Amino acid sequence: MKRKIILDIDPGHDDAVALLIAAASPELELVGITTVAGNQTLEKTTLNARRVATVAGIKVPIYAGLARPLVRDQVIAPNIHGESGLDGPDLPAPEVPVEKEHAVDFIIRTLDESDGDITLVPTGPLTNIAAVFIRRPDLARRVKEIVLMGGAYGLGNVTPAAEFNIYADPEAAHVVFTAGAPITMVGLDLTHQATATPDVLERLRGLRTRVGDLVAELLTFFGSTYHKVYGMEAPPVHDPCTVAKLIDPDVFTTRPAYVAVDTKSDLNYGRTVCDFYGLTGHAPNAQVAMKLDRDRFWDIVLTALARYR
Ligand code: RIB
Ligand code: CA
Repeated sequence: MKRKIILDIDPGHDDAVALLIAAASPELELVGITTVAGNQTLEKTTLNARRVATVAGIKVPIYAGLARPLVRDQVIAPNIHGESGLDGPDLPAPEVPVEKEHAVDFIIRTLDESDGDITLVPTGPLTNIAAVFIRRPDLARRVKEIVLMGGAYGLGNVTPAAEFNIYADPEAAHVVFTAGAPITMVGLDLTHQATATPDVLERLRGLRTRVGDLVAELLTFFGSTYHKVYGMEAPPVHDPCTVAKLIDPDVFTTRPAYVAVDTKSDLNYGRTVCDFYGLTGHAPNAQVAMKLDRDRFWDIVLTALARYR
């Protein structure tokens, strides 16, 4: 039975890879792609989703979502993803449209029409997902699962305390983590194990396909900014870790925790505070990703990308 998913993305180099593997995996039915402001403006993330879908021949409807965070000022990440949000490769003008229906309306309609078998896979700020639950709190019980890239039980990447997707809209993240839907939180502690080392780039080029070359170019640019900003030798490819978990549940381990988002403090604004020991007296509200089987992960990614001809 294929797992039905909605990808909510802010492409973004690693979002683009998540989209490519989700669309090519027989284990999944990608029922829709929704975009959100995050790495770049909504206009740019939506254009990027359409451009990647054009190159790969992905025939899944794309819906544009919210253009700014719920409360805070907008933050974007050109230092990592460039001015276009997908700097590096030359991408064609899009040949796929953006739907007229708003992303939040699409998600609400799809959940209403479903049998409770829809998994939401947000890999950007949680603005769209929060808007769904603000408008329809009851839908938290109709979502099969939310597998989100965001947060960290350890250090952040945009401040010492906060990971970008959460920091870009902490109030939205608070709404999502308190909505009551089953959550798997794929944070930096996990995704920093998913490094695109030179041997991975070689495997991508070895596919000798346009999509394989595209991903190699995307990750080469991504690697250049991660080296410049963080001094890392190889970039952590965050977003595909969510999709990989849905393709192969054994790709990483998880531990239950009570996760709360700090929306009050200054230094820790946007931090996901993870309680693994019940110290807060709250029951766990998320499965937190812990240990990646890195070889298995890259095999999943390459196997999916090899399906593009
Ligand atoms: O912190 C990493 C996350 O922020 C990834 O989803 C990346 O695409 C950016 O959105
Ligand atoms: Ca992202």
